[in-house]
Amino acid sequence: MAFQRYKFGAAGIGLMFGFSMSITLFGPANDFRSGVSTWVGLDKQLSLGRVIGFSYEDPLVIGDGKPIVVILDKDPKTGAAIDPPQRAYVYSAGIKFSPGVNHPELLGPGVRDLSEGKGQIAQANMATGAVFTIGKDEFNGEELDYIVNATAVSGWTPAEVLSAAGDENMRYVGKGKTIYITEGCWWCHTLLPEQTQDWQFFGAPPFLGDMNGEMPTAFGSDRKAPDLLHVASRNSSREWMTMHFFNPRLVQPNSIMPRFDYLWGKKDASGNTIDFKKWRADYTAYVNGKTIYPPEVPEPARTAEVRALIDWVLTSLR
Ligand code: HEC
Repeated sequence: MAFQRYKFGAAGIGLMFGFSMSITLFGPANDFRSGVSTWVGLDKQLSLGRVIGFSYEDPLVIGDGKPIVVILDKDPKTGAAIDPPQRAYVYSAGIKFSPGVNHPELLGPGVRDLSEGKGQIAQANMATGAVFTIGKDEFNGEELDYIVNATAVSGWTPAEVLSAAGDENMRYVGKGKTIYITEGCWWCHTLLPEQTQDWQFFGAPPFLGDMNGEMPTAFGSDRKAPDLLHVASRNSSREWMTMHFFNPRLVQPNSIMPRFDYLWGKKDASGNTIDFKKWRADYTAYVNGKTIYPPEVPEPARTAEVRALIDWVLTSLR
């Protein structure tokens, strides 16, 4: 009798386990390939590159080997104006392509067909580099965004696009998102507005298709600070972001956010060594009411990590 009950229990547990496993394995909603990439999904994966977390390609997770997003206001070949400006994703020679370019089935039906057909993504060559853009077209009566290999379609080379744009139009988005992960911003922030009031304050949550090809996602869970998914749509000031990252108390007197002044590195934009000690002393004098204005925040250098972080915040989080 006791043995029989035991047998029944084992079968019951087996059945429950089998049932829940079969949902995981066969539930169609869990198949990422059924999610059709949105513009946001394509923009994200093209600007982030192959992976943004730990990988053997970037073992110290410093944001190496990432593409550069360029805001193009003129055709790099003909010089004709592009209005409104368009995003181009520049993969110089050797930079690893984003997941959807290597595995088009991840893009979802329709988007895959357009990207492989009109977009010619199969022609993209990692050894020589490629420039991608996002196109829009109809597929079976539906308007879809898809990846265009602009190197094959329009003859744009990475070097041409970078020099047509200039530094002021380059955004180091992939490196910036890597810094969001390594600096642990997700201890406090989320990238996922949740139900009810959130949708009024922080905007709409992402769709499944917004995540196709992002590796890994960084939703966050336990939130102690505002959701950042759409932060640039409520605050797009580079100056504010610069002050806030150097010392959040400059713009939010009681902020609990840590300062990230070390992301400036040793030198500012003009190549002068940043004197952090003097800055702290001047700031303390200001806090104690001895001076009227706080000290000026140094202009970040072109290669400073904070430049990439701000690029990501202002370019991707809309
Ligand atoms: C200890 C928790 C904490 C950490 C870690 C943290 N933040 Fe914050 N952050 C906050 C709080 C609290 C606020 C709201 C008050 C303020 O503006 O400072 C905030 C505000 C912000 C804002 C403005 C949000 C808005 O709605 O306008 C941005 C952007 C931001 N943080 C980015 C970052 C980034 C990027 C990192 C990582 C480099 C980071 N934060 C790390 C707590 C944190």
